[in-house]
Amino acid sequence: MSTGRPTKAVIPVAGLGTRFLPATKATPKEMLPVVDKPAIQYVVEEAVQAGLTDVLMVTGRNKRPLEDHFDRNIELELSLEAKGDQERLDRIHASTDLANIHYVRQGDPLGLGHAVLVAEQHVGREAFAVLLGDDLIDERDPLLARMLEVQAQRGGSVVALMEVPQQQIHLYGCAAATATDDDDVVRVTGLVEKPPADEAPSNLAVIGRYVLSPTVFDVLHETPPGRAGEIQLTDALQTLATMPADDGGGVSGVVFRGRRYDTGDRAGYLKAVVRIASDRADLGPEFVEWLGQFVAELKQAANGSSSTGGRVNP
Ligand code: UTP
Repeated sequence: MSTGRPTKAVIPVAGLGTRFLPATKATPKEMLPVVDKPAIQYVVEEAVQAGLTDVLMVTGRNKRPLEDHFDRNIELELSLEAKGDQERLDRIHASTDLANIHYVRQGDPLGLGHAVLVAEQHVGREAFAVLLGDDLIDERDPLLARMLEVQAQRGGSVVALMEVPQQQIHLYGCAAATATDDDDVVRVTGLVEKPPADEAPSNLAVIGRYVLSPTVFDVLHETPPGRAGEIQLTDALQTLATMPADDGGGVSGVVFRGRRYDTGDRAGYLKAVVRIASDRADLGPEFVEWLGQFVAELKQAANGSSSTGGRVNP
């Protein structure tokens, strides 16, 4: 088993994206634009930023748009070259030159655990990262780099955790954990997928970043379908959490307190677009001014007072 620093990132993108229908009927949800880049590009950029330049996407139906996005589009390049539009040329090259991207088909979407298992042959016996396209982590709050550091120090596997209000814990995998000497690191003693609030062992939710020991593959081979008939990564992590470190077990958690956007959920997606657009140097100033006026107008309407100045500029 290699003990070197992980170099590979696995990005499962084979889910059905039912929360976003009908937009995701013929388009993977990871291709929905967040301002002017598809969500998946932010995720690949994050992997590359953390030093993981070998990216494997686990795809399903509708994989074409994903492959095309990271591939060259010669016709478009020639047209932009003819116009001398270097700025836009640079933008499309940015997605093509980003990483060494590979694809593997999952076939039936039998769950996140199954999607990870499909990556086994490509990954081999090395630790590797898994990034879910649903979760956008703000590039100013580097989570994955910290997780790789914790994995290098403590071995085993590392999950990303976030404190959520107790009434929201049923939407997530949930970790039972004990403190460590590091303020942002816990030792995970158990994991349960989407527990009812009154049965949840904590308010620590698992979010979509993992650094996994290759032992996870051995465990996933033995993991029966769980909740919703799917092979759950959470169930395999629960097994890893109870296994001795010498056998590749042990799970740490990095408690993330930075900015995260859940783009798999419609409201979360809208918030991501607004936050990211507001922060952009090219769009932010004009957009934030408009947003301020728009919010003021909404408040005025809610207070029942008739608008004096008419509608905000479109
Ligand atoms: P989700 O639980 O968000 O499921 O998957 P989903 O199907 O994508 O979306 P909804 O809930 O129906 O709207 C979490 C991640 O795991 C991937 C998804 O693509 C997503 O990134 N996944 C899930 C797979 O790759 N394969 C699966 O069989 C299931």
